[in-house]
Amino acid sequence: MSLFTQLFDPGRDAALVTGAGNGIGRAIAQALVSEGVRTVFADVHRDTVSAAAASSSRPELAVPWIGDLASRDACDALITDTRAAVGRVTLFVHSAAPPRRESDHALAVTDETWEQMRAVNVDAGFHLAREFSRELIAAREPGSILMLTSLHAATPRNLPHYSTSKAALAMLVKELAKTLGRFGIRVNALVPGAIAAGGFVADPSLTRHIPLGRLGRSEDLAPMALAVLSSKVSAYVTGASFVVDGGLSLTNWFDPPVLDEL
Ligand SMILES: NC(=O)c1ccc[n+]([C@@H]2O[C@H](COP(=O)([O-])OP(=O)(O)OC[C@H]3O[C@@H](n4cnc5c(N)ncnc54)[C@H](O)[C@@H]3O)[C@@H](O)[C@H]2O)c1
Repeated sequence: MSLFTQLFDPGRDAALVTGAGNGIGRAIAQALVSEGVRTVFADVHRDTVSAAAASSSRPELAVPWIGDLASRDACDALITDTRAAVGRVTLFVHSAAPPRRESDHALAVTDETWEQMRAVNVDAGFHLAREFSRELIAAREPGSILMLTSLHAATPRNLPHYSTSKAALAMLVKELAKTLGRFGIRVNALVPGAIAAGGFVADPSLTRHIPLGRLGRSEDLAPMALAVLSSKVSAYVTGASFVVDGGLSLTNWFDPPVLDEL
């Protein structure tokens, strides 16, 4: 008999994916819909997230939501709207992240940019994960949470606001996994390499550092995301980090930042 006839239970499971307007978040949200899971696509950009939901294989299962997750009020609205649209969230994916600009190195990044990065990556991730977990615990239901971290949780990126926020998120995964395991809520990290998805504009020469010989695509992440989210595949997996990078992390490829403007 086949091990994996169905990864999720469409009658019980419902998903929220942040950052679903672009790149990896969009690929994961669309993949969940293709598995028959009602999914809220959350993003700050109306046009991209509406298009992402509409171009899903089953648009009737895809609910676009627009708001700025740097705001606590917006996060609370997302929780309320998600409950109304798809019911209790059993699968939560946090992929939203503000744009990464090479000019925001340690001597240039503004307080506002620093704050925005932390607010979306860490604060929103924590608040949403905790509230969805509280709902699952109250209902005595299991669930699964996946945070998009980065190789730069452990290696400098010349973007200190980004790398520190991803390091915090990586530790948040471990903290939540340790606390929530007893309730059947699994929490894991997905760690992309260089994924040409828009949020990261890669120099094509980077491919020489990638053993599998090409930059990644958003679609390279979605199958692993679904496997980790699914308790059919990963029932005994929590607090873990899954690197999908074609082998890029076998090398450190970034030079120090350019400081011409000083
Ligand atoms: N692309 C890569 O190479 C790479 C590498 C490592 C980690 N990641 C992580 O993977 C995730 C997805 O990255 P990506 O490159 O696929 O796409 P991306 O960075 O373009 O996607 C992020 C999405 O988040 C949304 N967003 C930004 N600020 C928001 C806010 N305040 N409120 C709500 N939504 C907001 C954006 O509109 C965008 O659609 C990010 O968390 C990123 O840090 C990406």
